[in-house]
Amino acid sequence: VDVSDDDEKSKRNSLKRKNSIVNGNADHSRNGQNGHKNKKRRSSIQNGDTPQSKDLANSPGSSQSKRGHINGSGPSTPHTAKFKAVQEQRKQLPIAKGREALIEEINKNNVTILLGETGSGKTTQVPQYILESGLARNGMIAVTQPRKVAATSLAQRVAVEQNVSLGDLVGYAVRFDEKSSAQTRIKYLTDGMIVRELMSDPLLSNYSVIIVDEAHERTLRTDLLIANLKKIQAKRNPKTDPKGKGNADTSNPLKIVIMSATLDAEKFSKFYHNAKILYVKGRQHPVKIYHSAESQLDYTDAAMRTFFQIHTDQPPGDVLIFLPGQEDIESLQKSIELYAKQLPSDKSEVLTCTMFAAQEHSQNNKAFSPTPPNTRKCILATNIAETSITIPGIKYVIDTGKCKEKQYLARISGGGFDTLLTRDITKSSAMQRAGRAGREGTGACFRLYTEDAFNTMAVSGEPEILRCSLTSSILNLKCLGQNLEELDLMDKPDLDSMADLKPVASALKTLWLLGAIDNHQKLTPSGRQMALFPLEPQYACAVVASKEYGCTSEVLDIVSVLSASSKLFIDISEQRDAVTEARRKFRHPSGDHLTVLNAVKAYRDIAASENKHSRREWCRKHFLNERTFLEARDIREQLVVTCGRIGIDVSVSAKENEDLVIRSMGHGLAGNSAFLQADGTYKQTMGQTIVKVHPGSSLCDKKVPAIIYDDLMYTNQIYARGVSSIPKSFFLSLDAFKQRKA
Ligand code: CDP
Ligand code: MG
Repeated sequence: VDVSDDDEKSKRNSLKRKNSIVNGNADHSRNGQNGHKNKKRRSSIQNGDTPQSKDLANSPGSSQSKRGHINGSGPSTPHTAKFKAVQEQRKQLPIAKGREALIEEINKNNVTILLGETGSGKTTQVPQYILESGLARNGMIAVTQPRKVAATSLAQRVAVEQNVSLGDLVGYAVRFDEKSSAQTRIKYLTDGMIVRELMSDPLLSNYSVIIVDEAHERTLRTDLLIANLKKIQAKRNPKTDPKGKGNADTSNPLKIVIMSATLDAEKFSKFYHNAKILYVKGRQHPVKIYHSAESQLDYTDAAMRTFFQIHTDQPPGDVLIFLPGQEDIESLQKSIELYAKQLPSDKSEVLTCTMFAAQEHSQNNKAFSPTPPNTRKCILATNIAETSITIPGIKYVIDTGKCKEKQYLARISGGGFDTLLTRDITKSSAMQRAGRAGREGTGACFRLYTEDAFNTMAVSGEPEILRCSLTSSILNLKCLGQNLEELDLMDKPDLDSMADLKPVASALKTLWLLGAIDNHQKLTPSGRQMALFPLEPQYACAVVASKEYGCTSEVLDIVSVLSASSKLFIDISEQRDAVTEARRKFRHPSGDHLTVLNAVKAYRDIAASENKHSRREWCRKHFLNERTFLEARDIREQLVVTCGRIGIDVSVSAKENEDLVIRSMGHGLAGNSAFLQADGTYKQTMGQTIVKVHPGSSLCDKKVPAIIYDDLMYTNQIYARGVSSIPKSFFLSLDAFKQRKA
């Protein structure tokens, strides 16, 4: 391996041990963001046919011989044109040239850090290289992703490349959805899923290689995983690990690969005892960047105008628009489609596709299909398209400069829920977004913000662990016998346990309120049960409580809907009256939780007697999201399995006694409660904040002595959403409240 430092980057990061494993074509951005002008000492890696570089894929006994069949229709047909084209595409990826060097490094080192521009082939190729090299003989290869959509769609792509059906050799596991089998060797999972797996397999012994992908995003789960992997490696690789004790089982060593799209690798390297950093250079073409002359108040409107400007003035090429979330995406899609219909017929057609986390993957996949002739594709996406997923054919990027980010507001939430806030992106995101336009040729990026605004953006984001609710993670760690305070983390959250408003203290308080930990912060038996549910601890608590109240069936119906990725009730503010009218029949006087229950029951009746078409029509008429019902049904099935494991009878129903259901929910949402005050406002029981009932709630025009709510929303006011009335006396029965008052 010829060492080849990339001077400019190594200057910036002073990465002493960084080696370039691939030199792609050196066509650089004019804007400096991808430019590397000094290449004095660069040389490439020899891909000689050395004995080590033998492709083990074809040797007997390798995993390849266990290949599955497509749709069970007989042996795979590796010689079809499509398969050949896919293989040709694989060979063309920038990372392909570095394959041998990469495998050699992974083989040599316990931890390898791999940096490379988006689209260079890291996520899809590295696991296949490892598999085909035979490096993972003793176990599976895990590839972790911060996002569900990325995990499922990448697994699907790699299954195509391996010519197997999804769930065979290549599988995935995300919350509430898993496709894998005993044959699975490459598994794409969300970082949350693998952290969960720690509970049943603390050494992650099913895996011989764990690839932590998109590490630069520094999600809470990724950080917890990175910390645990360090511990695990010291146990599984005792001889070679600097911290290893040298006496544990060495038959199943663990390799770790950390992959990232940004340059921020030194921190990972330091954390893992100065692990080696490798760099794979992508094919980046120049991207011309335009800033808007003045700041835009309405970014969706500005995005629409910019799109049609491109469409009328610019040569062919698809457009990718970055928006913060689903609502903006859907509304802009409607406007673009409407406006496109009015274009003169000599213009090329406009085809819109959307891509966001809550969307089914068949919908997300539409963005990957080739654009039909005489058509301009317009993809509306969240920051999922920033680094996790590369969409081919993009020549123009429109960047609104906004994203949604989880933010924990301990001060006002009092209970420990995260909210998604729309905020400005970071410089590093802005560069990644622009880079999407230069994957296949020169491109252009239209920023809907000024150059000044860009210059004042933060360089990169704050790790999620410093700004997120830690309730669920601390509960999971407690099950592993770990305390967050003692864990060797890359960044530690504020540990000041005296300050009630700090995330760790606030999470511990919530867990204590839920009865998951005792006065000495020790996990309780019911806390252990709650941790088994792939739910927010608050909802897991409600399920556990439902056993005593005898209403598990109803509570499962409600929490499955509340845990689905999109809301059940579609809120169209312009049609609020029509919406209210259509929903009247589900409306329950006690509030939103039982209203959800009524809707679930009504849908179940319809589903039993009507066909698919009339089901859909029924949902549309009632402004209900059918996708949520379908997802909730799958979630419920999984919760039923967990209930079975801990002896909760899921068939027990409260029948007419719906008050019991509210009480069960009340156990989970005790921290999210407020009492009516003399002046007619609601004040939190666990904090000082005044909350208003959201106008979309069925309790919005009614005053009741006490409420519980699912979450708070911050606009110009603090709104409680998902609100139910609960007897004030309920709180007096809670141990936690008794102790608190005392
Ligand atoms: O991880 P990295 O960003 O380095 O690249 P990747 O996700 O492995 O993607 C490599 C290539 O596969 C990209 O050029 C994608 O366009 C392509 N790909 C695809 O065609 N269809 C998918 N569903 C996923 C990836
Ligand atoms: Mg990737």
